Amino acid sequence: MESGKRVLLIISGGIAAYKSLELIRDLRRREIAVRCILTKAGSQFVTPLSLGALTEDKVYQDLFSLTDESEMGHIELSRDADLVVVAPATANIMAKMRTGIADDLATTALLATDKPVMIAPAMNVRMWESAATQENLAILQERGVQVIGPEEGDMACNEYGMGRMSEPASIAEAIAGFFSDAGHSQQKSLIGKKAIVTSGPTHEAIDPVRYLANHSSGRQGHAIAKALAELGADTVLVSGPTRLPDPVGVTVKHVLSAEDMLAACEAALPADIVVCAAAVADWRVANPPSEKIKKNGSMPSLELVENPDILANVSQLAKNRPALVIGFAAETEDVVAYAQAKLSKKGCDWIVANDVSPETGTFGGKNNTVHVIEADTIEDWPTLSKEDVGQKLAIRIATYLENNPT
Ligand code: PMT
Repeated sequence: MESGKRVLLIISGGIAAYKSLELIRDLRRREIAVRCILTKAGSQFVTPLSLGALTEDKVYQDLFSLTDESEMGHIELSRDADLVVVAPATANIMAKMRTGIADDLATTALLATDKPVMIAPAMNVRMWESAATQENLAILQERGVQVIGPEEGDMACNEYGMGRMSEPASIAEAIAGFFSDAGHSQQKSLIGKKAIVTSGPTHEAIDPVRYLANHSSGRQGHAIAKALAELGADTVLVSGPTRLPDPVGVTVKHVLSAEDMLAACEAALPADIVVCAAAVADWRVANPPSEKIKKNGSMPSLELVENPDILANVSQLAKNRPALVIGFAAETEDVVAYAQAKLSKKGCDWIVANDVSPETGTFGGKNNTVHVIEADTIEDWPTLSKEDVGQKLAIRIATYLENNPT
């Protein structure tokens, strides 16, 4: 393969194993060589024959195969690749990775490898949300295992929720990002840095039962906070009301209104990095009554006043200004031009522009197409999952701070 990059792909036993075939095709299209280890349970879902045909390589299955050991010992197998990827990663294999159980070829290779490891979890929503899996996940992340997904959606078991394996294209993109120059050609780290991320909408009271809000789901902001924490940043996520679980390894402050969000950010300062991904309501009702407004035939009139601008406040701090302040710009037309205007008006260092016209599905959706804008550069990113945007942004932040030490 021309890129010279090699992935050891471990396929464990879950219905999502069928997606590993598409993942291999995608990686090979990117000229990344793939060698597979197929677990016994994995072989219930995909055959060694199809994996062998797509990888054009031997598929390894048995720890005690004399033939395999004489061709390539399991230790060598675990270290021969540049990256070990477990996709799908079941709850079972994650638990074994966490505890160091090595009772088959896949888990032995995982214990023996000295290479970076990436996992793409796939399991039932209850299994994913269980305390055991979440604890295993947190420990694996602490040890530097990179996690792609899972995503929310319909499951093979007829349930709905978090636990679907990320799509092969997203996993392949994360692997390619890992190998890219801007990515993990050398491991980036934010250890020792403090980050604050805002996420989600704000709710501005009209009266005790009604509010003004917008369509933000918090997915983008939460993914950024998770990615920063994965690189080792001490991360505080200040989140408006969302339906998302708190990201693992992140300190989460739940707030309701823009004023609460500003107060929580101020309380979390000082920080090295601030990323404002929240869709803060620009206005609030001037004096919301303490009783529910009654319908009495006439239309109530709402006096709106402007909310404090958190991004502008942090960007323009005279004392202890964070080294890097990043805003988002949600636009429905002339996306880049309006975002550039916001960059200079608010005084942040970078602004990440995204089109939020309804047809893009950016609000609430899984993917985002962003432009990272600095004073004199514009970087157009392809459409990526919000998790991938978070990871790519976290790596860009780490690279920037490495090159611009304070
Ligand atoms: O939450 P998701 O469904 O995943 O969708 C993600 C997103 C579209 C919400 C996100 O990617 C995004 O674009 N966030 C910014 C939304 C927004 O409010 O943009 P804006 O152009 O109105 O504001 C510009 C910047 O100022 C933003 O960084 C915003 O957080 C910040 N701001 C705005 C108003 C205010 N009072 N305080 C602020 O800090």
